[in-house]
Amino acid sequence: MEQKKESLRIEIQGISQSFGEKKVLDNIQLNIGDGEIFALLGPSGAGKTTLLKILTGQLVQTEGTAKILGTDTKKLTDKEYSKIGMMLDTSGLYERLSCYDNLLLFTQIYGISKNYIEEALLKVGLMEAKKRPVNKLSKGMKQRLVLARALMNDPWILFLDEPTSGLDPASTREIHKLIFSLKEKGTTVFLTTHNMEEAEKLCDNIALLHEGNIVEYGNPKEICRRYNHQNKIEILLKNGKQLSLCNSESSAKEIYGYLQEGIVETIHSTEPNLENVFVELTGRSFE
Ligand SMILES: Nc1ncnc2c1ncn2[C@@H]1O[C@H](COP(=O)(O)OP(=O)(O)O)[C@@H](O)[C@H]1O
Ligand SMILES: [Mg+2]
Repeated sequence: MEQKKESLRIEIQGISQSFGEKKVLDNIQLNIGDGEIFALLGPSGAGKTTLLKILTGQLVQTEGTAKILGTDTKKLTDKEYSKIGMMLDTSGLYERLSCYDNLLLFTQIYGISKNYIEEALLKVGLMEAKKRPVNKLSKGMKQRLVLARALMNDPWILFLDEPTSGLDPASTREIHKLIFSLKEKGTTVFLTTHNMEEAEKLCDNIALLHEGNIVEYGNPKEICRRYNHQNKIEILLKNGKQLSLCNSESSAKEIYGYLQEGIVETIHSTEPNLENVFVELTGRSFE
């Protein structure tokens, strides 16, 4: 798919990564634009975190080049780091310090005004736990604290590794809301997930990663429509009868009739969800 070249925030060209004999990423090409929510989607072990580590300068790739904000990821300096936020795991938290003090330490290291601390805690819904030490937080709260930390410098690009994995539905919704509000401000969000529904709901574009290769790329809804091989309209009538009609002019009268009689319970087109697209492409299920 053609992408705009002028406003790219992340450019990935021919990235491969091997660990010993094992090739984990194989010739990855990707461009991610301004204010885009992008997800790298793949089952556990697909290579998602590996790519994220390369993009954030924590791992040097075997081959290829990656740039963020126009700078090679092998040469990132404080200037670039001041414009990115990352939530890779919760291991960087000081367990005995409070939420507030964890963020305070971060502002001191990165020269950020401490005025942002409460704002960040508020954004992720942790204001009430402000004084609580990290070792008394639930997993979801720790995850939100790391997210607060990633937001403190008002980043241009936010990298999130499985931001909602293991969270309850309410916390997940909160994080999704936050991601949408960041997009409105023009923040580019690069996330990884193995949650298909999350990707479908949030993202402008996704890449499906399978054994180190991108097997499909694009807008999630467009991808699903492309794989609508059946191209049927499925109707459930109020009397319980299930119908499957061709999505063409030939069915128009019949469908119109049901609608006019007011006997339609549900009506759907047959495009698959991303999970089924993945199964079709790889011959295996996602989990
Ligand atoms: N530092 C490393 N050394 C050796 N193998 C690694 C290393 N990091 C990741 N791997 C392997 O690379 C593969 C992809 O891992 P990862 O990128 O963490 O996948 P994902 O995040 O999609 O679950 C896995 O098989 C993993 O065991
Ligand atoms: Mg991972």
